[in-house]
Order: sequence, then C-alpha cells, then structure tokens
Amino acid sequence: MQIGDPFVRHSCYSFQVLEGLRTGDFNELGLWPSRDPAEVDEPSQETLIGQFMRWKDLVKKYAGVSKMLDPREMFLLAVAVQRWPGPVLEIGTHKGITTCFVAEVMHQLKRHDQIFTIEMFLKGWKAHNGEDGFPGDSYLKALQEFRSQAVLHRVVPILGNSHELKPLIWGIRPAVIFLDGDHTRDGVADDLLLLRFFNHPYICIIHQANVPSVMQAVLDLRAGGRHRFANFHTGTAGDKGLIALTPV
Ligand SMILES: C[S@@+](CC[C@H](N)C(=O)[O-])C[C@H]1O[C@@H](n2cnc3c(N)ncnc32)[C@H](O)[C@@H]1O
Repeated sequence: MQIGDPFVRHSCYSFQVLEGLRTGDFNELGLWPSRDPAEVDEPSQETLIGQFMRWKDLVKKYAGVSKMLDPREMFLLAVAVQRWPGPVLEIGTHKGITTCFVAEVMHQLKRHDQIFTIEMFLKGWKAHNGEDGFPGDSYLKALQEFRSQAVLHRVVPILGNSHELKPLIWGIRPAVIFLDGDHTRDGVADDLLLLRFFNHPYICIIHQANVPSVMQAVLDLRAGGRHRFANFHTGTAGDKGLIALTPV
C-alpha cells in the first residue's frame, strides 16, 4: 500500500468523513460518484498506511481462515477498533472468526476492553444439504475457539436474538458495533434502532452493505440526518460493501 493507491485514498477520505473532518460526497446509493478517488492530503494517507501496515500479518493469518470478511474489510475493521477505543459489539458470531480477529487486534493494542458477540444459535439446525451452517452447530466451533485461545478471555459470547437484546446492548455502550447478523431490511433497521439511544462516541460498521435489503435500511437511517456516513466500497469485483456510520 502506498500514497495515491485508490483504496488508501478512498479509505482515508471515508475516515475523515466519519471523524467529522469533512462532509461526505457519496451518491444516493452511498457509492463514490466518479471513477477517480477523492483527494486527501499526503500526511493523512501516511498515517492510515501506517495503521494498515500494523495489521498486515494478522490480516494475512485470518484471510487464510475465512472468506466471509474480505482482507480489505479486515484492515478497515482493525483501524476502526484502533480509532474508536472502548468495548466492541458484534451481531452475528457464526464461527467466531471476526470475533477472534478483533480480539487479537485488541491484544496487540494492549487494550483491556471486552468484545461482546451475539448469536441466535439454533441447536441442531441443518442446512438443506445436511451440513452445519448458521444459525446451527457451527457456532459450537466458535465456543471451542473462545475457550482454547488465550487472547480470547476478553470475549463475552451472548446467546439470543439481537432484536430482543436492546436493553443489554444499551448498557454495554459499545464504541465499535459490527453488524453481520440479520441481513433483511427490517432486521437491519431493527438493529440500527440501537443507535437511537447511544449518547457516546461510536462507529457502527455494516457488513454486506451493497446487498439491496441492507443498503435500503442504512439509507433510511441516513435520511434522518443524525449520522455521518461512508461507504468503503472500493469498486473492485466481489466487494460486498462495508458502510460505517458515526453520530453527528
Ligand atoms: C454471516 S454470519 C456472521 C459471520 C461471522 N462474523 C464470522 O466471522 O464467522 C451471520 C450470523 O448472524 C446470525 N444472526 C442472524 N440474525 C441474527 C440475530 N437477529 N441475532 C443474533 N444473531 C443473528 C446467524 O445465525 C449467523 O450465524
């Protein structure tokens, strides 16, 4: 990664929007309107590159484990955890891979915050082909990982439907919220209701944001005008889209 790289420029611009340093100029679908990335100064690109480089080995390790989170998304998640210190909340534990990744990021940052991760888990549930999928027993692999890996003592697994756990989540006051659970429009809208009663600084990151149902729920919230908004979408093939929101 180097200065001028489109991914670096776009990510740098997006973080500046989320941090209130500039106003976003994304189109109505939350995408960057032209093929040329936004202009951002070199010192701020250098800072971001330095932060990305810190996570290079960790991203490489996790890229080999899961295809669910694109390596670029892992870099962005790590930088978000770095820039928004405090507890992390993940909705959608599944095999716990993102959870483990964030736990290692926190460990390297020498921070003591906890990671709360919510999974609805239906015991014995099988996919049509008979395999364990989510919300079935693949969650048990996550629990095994949490038990066996030393850095994961900071992980608090929570069983249940996120839509029914709002009072608990309000009490956690997470600084980073990673939404990767229910991807229906109503489901995402319901999870985003969480943000309504937060009165602390936070970043809410939404995975697979370019799926129309997810995007629509995010755009509905954006229309309320109480959030800064950035789509880290890079325009590369296979990019599922990662949107982040911060309070104005
Ligand atoms: C795409 S997977 C998450 C992948 C995970 N981040 C990982 O690294 O392996 C989505 C997960 O969210 C769970 N889920 C869906 N809706 C949920 C809800 N309302 N509350 C809690 N978990 C939910 C599903 O059971 C599934 O395990």
